[in-house]
Amino acid sequence: MSYRKSPLRLAVFVSGRGSNLRAILEAIERGALNARVEVVWSNHPKAPALEIAKNFGIQTYAKLKPHKMSSAAYDKLILDLITPYEVDLIALAGYFRILSPVLIRAFRWKIVNIHPSLLPSFPGLHAQKQAIEYGVKISGCTLHFVTEALDAGPVIAQRVVPVFDDDTEETLAERILAQEHQLYPEVLELFAEQRIILEDGKKPQVRILSAKK
Ligand code: GRF
Repeated sequence: MSYRKSPLRLAVFVSGRGSNLRAILEAIERGALNARVEVVWSNHPKAPALEIAKNFGIQTYAKLKPHKMSSAAYDKLILDLITPYEVDLIALAGYFRILSPVLIRAFRWKIVNIHPSLLPSFPGLHAQKQAIEYGVKISGCTLHFVTEALDAGPVIAQRVVPVFDDDTEETLAERILAQEHQLYPEVLELFAEQRIILEDGKKPQVRILSAKK
């Protein structure tokens, strides 16, 4: 596994609001992240995230999946679109589609996602609601590798937030989101610095190398 290029070449996949995409782009702009977003893909042509990308001058592509098209054929179409951009990593940032093995295999260990809970707790949709309903006292966000198993790839980094008694799904989501916006660019910078090591084994685990002095 090697993410050798400098700056790191990224594709970002989005479906909605795009606040994580914005956090990544702003981190690049202020020099905190040595990366370039080469292309942004969306499965929703009306996603507000696409406007954010365009405002930063980034090439975007979007297409709804036609009902008759298989997930594999749809992901092949995405693969063909992004291949010319020679990206090192695909960053899923609020991408609300499960990837088929077509993409996951073509970009093995090169797809990461941010999830608004401390995985393995509360995978899937409405993670913040799940956390409130369960009554946990802490939650947070998880940056992880994407594998065929939903929200179950190796954890790269996590951030913790408190859950207060009077929290609603919205207030908790907002507290977690503030952490997401810091965590995503920080982890991508670790990739750019080649400090993320995936240790193979029955259950692959991530090790983060210390900064070069
Ligand atoms: C975030 O909460 C992220 O954890 C989840 O989807 C949301 C995306 O928000 N995967 P945004 O589109 O980045 O604002």
